[in-house]
Amino acid sequence: MTMPALKNDRFLRALRREPTDTTPIWVMRQAGRYLPEYRATRERAGSFMGLAQNPEYACEVTLQPLQRFELDAAILFSDILTIPDAMGLGLSFAQGEGPQFARPVRTAGDIANLAVPDMDGELRYVMDAVRLIRKELHGRVPLIGFSGSPWTLACYMVEGHGSRDFATLKTLCWDQPRLAHQLLDTLAQSVSAYLVAQAAAGAQALMIFDTWGGLLGPAPFREFSLRPMAQIVAALKADPASRGLPVILFSKGAGAHLAALADTGCAALSVDWTIDLADARAAVAGRVALQGNLDPAILRANPEVIRRQARTVIDSYGNHPGHVFNLGHGITPEVDPEHVKLLVDEVHAYGRTLRAS
Ligand code: CP3
Repeated sequence: MTMPALKNDRFLRALRREPTDTTPIWVMRQAGRYLPEYRATRERAGSFMGLAQNPEYACEVTLQPLQRFELDAAILFSDILTIPDAMGLGLSFAQGEGPQFARPVRTAGDIANLAVPDMDGELRYVMDAVRLIRKELHGRVPLIGFSGSPWTLACYMVEGHGSRDFATLKTLCWDQPRLAHQLLDTLAQSVSAYLVAQAAAGAQALMIFDTWGGLLGPAPFREFSLRPMAQIVAALKADPASRGLPVILFSKGAGAHLAALADTGCAALSVDWTIDLADARAAVAGRVALQGNLDPAILRANPEVIRRQARTVIDSYGNHPGHVFNLGHGITPEVDPEHVKLLVDEVHAYGRTLRAS
């Protein structure tokens, strides 16, 4: 099937560090509970997984933020925990309580029993959603596909639910490093296959969310978080379906590891708000584009603060190609959608003036 040409390629150009007319922006978790229309669709779907596993609903909520805001990219509506769910761990989201696995992974036997899920089987609903969203976007903006990192997926799989420190996986890493590596290897293979399949289905950029990489000290970060992500980037570059697609890595709280993350050969790094973008640029020495990094809590402040802080983020990157504006982490449910609108509009307006200066 041939697809219409992209009407707005600012996001992909910025990832290639090419000049753009203004700063592109999208927002992590841009489809979510802060939007009343999202809550209405979720209500109709009955549950979060009911929403994510139905390609029509997933497509509908993916497009909702684009109907309100001039965003420069769409992101597949799904979740990082689809892979462990497809591995048979039994995922559910209790209202207001975050993810839960009925069958967490704890023993050598549990780990040995895990297999790479079938992308045309258990995870076909994700690829169907990607195909439908690409069709319904009509080339308006590019579509981002995504996955969790092996480390971050393992955090939830071993703990069985969210946690402040994911100490169960950390203990496994120290006490039984071979088992931890076996688990991370299976996950690296699964994530690679998952992202290749999303690329084949029509995703135009790929992002890996390593939300919990920052929980690790320097040497364990390289061993348990970075190394499996580097394996995935290499696998994506080796496969004809994904070879040409930019890969964005987001290790939250890993500002000390930007140079090492850039060494993986990814196109861009997403960074949180604890690092100044000027310092991040210096750390990666122009080798990758940067995405970020407004503190999501600023969206709860008044409009003038939001506009000013957005300009500060743009100025900290400076007038150079290769910046994609985003939050430093996902948007939270209590944010007023009007604040997102004024953020998007300010980023575009200020990005234009900066380039004209
Ligand atoms: O960005 C987007 O709009 C795409 C959709 C998306 C979701 N989750 C939808 C979602 C993406 C990219 C994710 C990634 C994700 N999921 C991450 C990595 C990024 C991050 O925020 O750190 C993580 C750690 C998860 C796991 C997860 N999913 C948690 C901890 C929770 C519960 C907490 C929460 O925010 O509610 C979810 C559920 C979830 N995933 C929701 C959405 C919109 C809310 C569920 C609901 O509607 O009730």
